[in-house]
Amino acid sequence: MCGIIGYCGPKPMGEVLLEGLKRMEYRGYDSAGIAVRSNAEITVIKRAGKIATLREAVQGELEGDCGIGHTRWATHGGVTDENAHPHLDAAGKVAIVHNGIIENYSVLREKLAAEGVEFASETDSEVIAHLIAKLYDGNLAAAVQQVVQLLKGTYGIAVTHIDEPGVLVGARNGSPLVLGVGEQEMFLASDVTAILGHTKQAIYLEDGEIVTITADDYRTTDLQSRKVDKHIQIINWELEEIEKGGYRHFMEKEIFEQPESILRAMQGRLDHEYATGHLGGLNMSKKELLDLERVKIIAAGTSFYAGLVASYLIESIARIPCTVELAAEVRYRNPIVERNSIYFAISQSGETADTLYAMRELQRKGARVLGICNVVGATIPRESDGGVYIHSGPEIAVASTKAFTSQLTALYVFTLLIARMRHMSYEAGMMFVQALEEVPDQVAKVLNLAPAIAEIAHKYHEARNFLFLGRGINYPVAFEGALKLKEISYIHAEGYSAAEVKHGPIALISPDTPSLFLVPDDALREKVISNMKEVKARNGQVIAVCVEDDHEVAALADDVIMVPRVHELMYPFVMTIPLQLFAYYTALELGRDVDQPRNLAKSVTVE
Ligand code: F6R
Repeated sequence: MCGIIGYCGPKPMGEVLLEGLKRMEYRGYDSAGIAVRSNAEITVIKRAGKIATLREAVQGELEGDCGIGHTRWATHGGVTDENAHPHLDAAGKVAIVHNGIIENYSVLREKLAAEGVEFASETDSEVIAHLIAKLYDGNLAAAVQQVVQLLKGTYGIAVTHIDEPGVLVGARNGSPLVLGVGEQEMFLASDVTAILGHTKQAIYLEDGEIVTITADDYRTTDLQSRKVDKHIQIINWELEEIEKGGYRHFMEKEIFEQPESILRAMQGRLDHEYATGHLGGLNMSKKELLDLERVKIIAAGTSFYAGLVASYLIESIARIPCTVELAAEVRYRNPIVERNSIYFAISQSGETADTLYAMRELQRKGARVLGICNVVGATIPRESDGGVYIHSGPEIAVASTKAFTSQLTALYVFTLLIARMRHMSYEAGMMFVQALEEVPDQVAKVLNLAPAIAEIAHKYHEARNFLFLGRGINYPVAFEGALKLKEISYIHAEGYSAAEVKHGPIALISPDTPSLFLVPDDALREKVISNMKEVKARNGQVIAVCVEDDHEVAALADDVIMVPRVHELMYPFVMTIPLQLFAYYTALELGRDVDQPRNLAKSVTVE
C-alpha cells in the first residue's frame, strides 16, 4: 500500500527519495511523488503511474536540504497527478505525505473551505497540509502535534516547512513509521526496505509519537511534548535479500528460497532429546500450555490458509479444538473469548489492518493473542502478547509464497510442542521431528520439477476458469493454489474440497475448465481418486499433483506433477510448491506483472 520516505542529509536528494520509493514499489501503488525543500521553495513533482514516469519528470538533480516522497495506493479520489502525494498548503510552505485514512476529513475540509482554503486534490490527506500551515507559529513539531490531535483515523505522516531548513517531522497513529539513523543523515520511512541501502539502525515509532529529524539529530516526543527515549534496533535483513539476485522476479526468487526459509523457521526450535518443539517467544508457562483447551487463529489471505492447514494438524495430533476465522469478520462479530484459549494472529507483514484490529478487539476482551509474523518490529508482533517470528527474510513479491511455508513450519513446531505435552508419544514425536527436518530437502526436489511445471502452465494458460481440489489437511492448500493463480495471472480460480464438487461446482466442468487435484498418498487418496473420476467422466481436464510412482493417478490424469513421498502430515509443504510454480509460469505466459499484480498491495493497512 502507500509508502513514505523522508531524508535529511548530504546525499543527492532526488536520488535518495526516488531510490527509497523504488524499494517500496513491491507494496503496490498507483502514483508517486516527491517534495524537496530548498531555501527558494518546496519543489513538488508527482505523477500518476509508475516510478519510472516520476523519474522522467524529475529533470536533473534536485538541490535541497531535506525531502519527502510517497507511493500512493488510491483510496479517496482517483489515480491522478493532483491526488498523488506530497500535498502542499495553499501558500506552498508546507508539504506532507500521508499513509492511512483520515476519517473526519470531510468535516475538516468543509471548515477549511468555509475559511476560504482552496483544495487542489480530492484526497483526505490534503487537509493535513492546510491545517499545519494554519497552526504553524514558528515550530513545525508543535504545529504537527496540534494538528494530529484534530485527526480521527490512521496516519503515518512526514512533513517539511519552508521556514525550517533541513528539518522533517513525522508522526504515527496506526500506520507504521520508522526512523533510520545514519552517519550524518536521518531517514523517515514506512518500511525499512526503503532505507536498508543506507543504514541498518532503526527506531520504530509507536502510536501517539512525534519525531523531529535533522541530518545529525532526532528527538521523539509524545503528544504532550514529553521526550520519549527510544532504542535503536538493528535491522537484521541484508541488502541482497531485497534484490532479485539473478532471478527474473522476486516471486521466482522467493519460491526457490523455500528450502532455506523453511529451515530457518525451524532452526533451534526442534528438541531431539525430548522429541518436542521449543518456542521461547510464546511467553507461556508450562502450566499455561498444559491448561490450554482451545486454539483460535485469525488471519487474512494466504496467512488464513496457513491457519486452516494448522487447524487440521492441531486437532489431529494435539487433540485440541482449533478454529480459524477471517480476521476481518472477527472484529465486528463481538467475539467471545473463552478461558484457557489462545489466539494466533498470523500475518507476514505484521501490519494487516483487519488482523491488527481484530487482535486489539480480542485483547480488549482479555484474550491472549500471539503473533506469527515475518517483519520484525511490525505492529502486530509489537502489540501481541508473545509469538513466533518466521524468519523468512523480506518477502517482496506481492503474492506470498515463502511466508506461507514458514508460517506452516512455525505452526507445526507449536503443534508438536503441545501434542507432546498431551497424547503424543516420544516415538511419534521423534518421527514428526525427523519428518519436519526432511521437508527442506523434499521441497528442493519439488523445485527441480520447475521446467515440467512450466510446460503444463504453457498448455493450460488460456483457460479462463480453474478448480483446485484437495481434501483433509491439503484442502486449504487447494485454496492457496487458487488464490495464487487468481492474484498473478487474473484467471478465475476456486478452491474446493474435492468431495464438495458434486454438490454444485461440477456444473462448471467442461473441457474449458481444468481441475487441479491434490492427491497425496494419505488416508483420503481413494476418495480423491473417485472425485477425479467424476470430473473425467464429464470431459473435464485434470492436472494431478500426486506422489512419485502413483501410476493409477498418472493413468487417470491428463497431466501429472509427481512429488516425493513424505510423512502424511507433511504433504501441505510439498503440494504447495507446484501450485506456486504453476501460478508463476502461467502469469509469465500471459505477460502479467508478476511481482506487482494489478490492484493489489503487499501489506493491506486499510480495513
Ligand atoms: C496472497 C497475499 C495476501 C496476504 C494477506 C495477508 O498472496 O499476499 O492474501 O496473505 O493480505 O497479509 P499478511 O500475511 O501480511 O497479514
